[in-house]
Formats: sequence, C-alpha cells, structure tokens
Amino acid sequence: MTDSKPSTVPRHIAIVMDGNGRWAKARHRPRTFGHNAGRKAVREVIEGCIRQGVQALTLFAFSSENWKRPEDEVGALMELFVRALDKEVDELHEQQVRVRFVGDLSAFEAGLRQRMNAAMSRTAANTRLQLNIAVNYGGRWDIVQAARKAGEAVARGEIRPDDIDEALLGHWMCLADLPPLDLFIRTGGEFRVSNFLLWQLAYAELYFTETLWPDFDQVSLQNAIDDYARRERRFGRTGDQVAQG
Ligand code: IPE
Ligand code: IPE
Ligand code: MG
Repeated sequence: MTDSKPSTVPRHIAIVMDGNGRWAKARHRPRTFGHNAGRKAVREVIEGCIRQGVQALTLFAFSSENWKRPEDEVGALMELFVRALDKEVDELHEQQVRVRFVGDLSAFEAGLRQRMNAAMSRTAANTRLQLNIAVNYGGRWDIVQAARKAGEAVARGEIRPDDIDEALLGHWMCLADLPPLDLFIRTGGEFRVSNFLLWQLAYAELYFTETLWPDFDQVSLQNAIDDYARRERRFGRTGDQVAQG
C-alpha cells in the first residue's frame, strides 16, 4: 500500500465513552449500573479493533473534571476500575493486548496505582493492540506536562528555547510513540471534546453517534470505521491534489 492510497482502517481510534448515566436512568437504575454495563462495550470495541487490525485504541474512562461528580459516584467508578483490572487483565494479556494508563496517575490511591503499574508491566511486550486507558486525563494537562518537560530540558541546558518546535513538544505528549490519531468517536449524542486529546485531535476525523456507550457494539464500531473510510482527508491540500497522490 502506498502513501497516496491511505488505509481505510484507522490506525488509531480514540473514544469518549459517554452516556452511561442516561442509559441507567432510562432503566430507572442508579448511574453506576450504567458504568458497569459499559464494560461489555469496552470488550466489544477491543475485540472489534483486533479483528479489524486497528493498531491503537485510546479510551476516555475518567476525565480530570470527573472528580467533580458526587463522591459516591467517583468511589463507585474507582471500585469498578479495580475490579475490572483484576478481572480483565488476564484476558487482555492472552489477546496480546498491551495496556497503558495515560493521565495524571498521581491522584489515585496507592493500591489502584500499583494495579495499574502491574497491568502495564505485565502486558508491556504485547503488540497486537495498543490499548490506552485515559484516567484523570485532560488534554490541557497533557500539553502542560509536555511544556514542563521542555522547560526542564532547557533548564538542564540540553536544548535552547528556540529548539522547541511542534515535533519536539509533540514528542513529550502522551501517545507520541503510537500511530497518529485517525478517528475520534464520541457516543451519547454530545458534540464536544470535553478536554480529551486536544493536541492529538488536530487532524483526526470526528464521528459522533447518539448511541449510548453501554449499547455500543462491534456493529457500531464497524459503522464508524465505514464512515471514516468514506472521508477524504486532505490535510490542507485540495481534493485534486489528493486524487493525484
Ligand atoms: C460516561 O458516561 C462515563 C464517565 C464519564 C465515567 P456518563 O456518566 O457521563 O453518562 P451521562 O453522560 O451522564 O449519560
Ligand atoms: C467525558 O464525558 C469524560 C468521559 C467519558 C470519561 P463527560 O460526561 O464527563 O463530559 P461532559 O461533562 O458531558 O462534557
Ligand atoms: Mg456524560
């Protein structure tokens, strides 16, 4: 496959898994019931990405703003993460999935952090699918932490301020070692980014669906990928230029 004929399968997909609360509300159940139900959808998209040959999948599980939710909902989400980690990591490892947590992990209690680190090191050599779980992640935080690393490199005399360009700063952003983000999906019907991958979204294709996260399955993923495959990505060029390759 040449560069002029880009693959119709996105190399890297990011998903804002939204709508768990409304899904539960429609069933007269507590919001946490919806979060629990969302686990099945996570398994579905992982399976779908492996089948399609998607290289990287980044899931927004908990934003830096989600701490503002009622204490019991935050607590239930943390418990869910712990349970999911204990239960799912074996299977992910068997599926040759590499799991990474991205975000400011320092905010989590030691036990949870330890489990996250254990899952990351255990699966570190897997290459079938790069799965990134964004927790306590914010797109602005990501840019700030990269800028701080640049500042530290300047302070150590390793680089000059003039050396800082998009490529250098981009190298310190989360997910920099992965293929570029091709497709951004948000479930739950809201048309916003909610401080997800701001830097990495620069040229991603955006896809929004009304489907609430617990109802999202491999068919829904296929619909998003099919939609992506029909897009013409011009990256600033004209349609004629793209056609000529
Ligand atoms: C997304 O679903 C899950 C998290 C933010 C953890 P929501 O909990 O935001 O569900 P809605 O948007 O209230 O329906
Ligand atoms: C974004 O969803 C965060 C996650 C899915 C983890 P939210 O439900 O928190 O976003 P807003 O509040 O609608 O912007
Ligand atoms: Mg929401």
